[in-house]
Amino acid sequence: MFVLGIETSCDETAASVVGPTGVLSDVVYTQTVHAEYLGVVPELASRAHAEKLSSVVQRALSQAGLRRPDAVAATSGPGLIGAVLVGLSFGKAAAAAWGCPFLGVNHLEGHLLSPLLEDPAPAFPFLGLVVSGGHTQLYLARDVGDYEVLASTVDDAAGEAYDKVARVMGLGYPGGPIVDRLSKGGDPRSVPLPRPVVKKRDLDWSFSGLKTAVRKHQHQHPDTRPEDLAASFQAAVVDVLLDRVLRASRRTGVTRLALSGGVAANSELRERAAQLPLQVYLPPRSRCTDNGAMIAHAGRLRLLRGQRDPLSTSARPGWPLSQLAVPEAS
Ligand code: KG4
Ligand code: ZN
Repeated sequence: MFVLGIETSCDETAASVVGPTGVLSDVVYTQTVHAEYLGVVPELASRAHAEKLSSVVQRALSQAGLRRPDAVAATSGPGLIGAVLVGLSFGKAAAAAWGCPFLGVNHLEGHLLSPLLEDPAPAFPFLGLVVSGGHTQLYLARDVGDYEVLASTVDDAAGEAYDKVARVMGLGYPGGPIVDRLSKGGDPRSVPLPRPVVKKRDLDWSFSGLKTAVRKHQHQHPDTRPEDLAASFQAAVVDVLLDRVLRASRRTGVTRLALSGGVAANSELRERAAQLPLQVYLPPRSRCTDNGAMIAHAGRLRLLRGQRDPLSTSARPGWPLSQLAVPEAS
């Protein structure tokens, strides 16, 4: 079964073909139109998807050596509603034209299961830390479709905190990779920043106070080297992310940890996660940020378990991943 995956939930227009041997093609177009606004502009994202998607899909198919896939999977949420609708509508129309099955995939499930594309892949059950621009959650993944949320952010997502801090520091967008690069030349102990905890919910995160602390420091000590502030912020983010992971591992007894989502491309998070006393699975950086392969793969796993979605499937901007059951095999 060769599945075409389509991803348009934010600012990447992406398509990929995944088959029995793995990823056959993986085409990602990162929209550049948002940089001058220092953040994603939803309307511009939808338009850019509509403009680029057809050629991105054609390239994914031709690189895979296919004229048509056996099924089409498209992100149907969560994400920017207009952006999601572009890929979803395209995917449903393509499936209708080809007369093949369609699957509406949850973007977070795409991230969570993306480490399974690698060799070695984590076996179930594993802890899945999904850290992106829109979400920061830790799941206990027991099987495809059987996920328990162990921890969430109560305010900003980790990637959002990176993007906001970059904006405060006047560094540009997207902030994650810029702050990551800048941190390499800084001292992570030079600026004292908090490690916020959430009262009575010791597995959850809060990142908004950290962003405020960076802003305050910048205001009160404008002479601080940007490298030092960036490195101190990054150390705080990685500290709190890994602290909750270790607690959750102790609590559940699960020692396999899979990282995914854009922030999982972060160099310090990758280095320090690899040193944890856990079996750690890290997809390559290109599979951490949004891509079509993770959508094709999640769709394919569900297809193999008998799932088919109707062409009336609609976009779900706030679709949670908990209790996302796979239907009984027919
Ligand atoms: O998963 P993703 O591509 O899109 C969403 O689903 O949100 O994640 C994008 C986020 C952005 O906030 C970006 O700043 C962050 O991931 N990011 C990073 C790095 N690369 C991307 N954050 C920290 N370090 C990085 N190297
Ligand atoms: Zn994402």
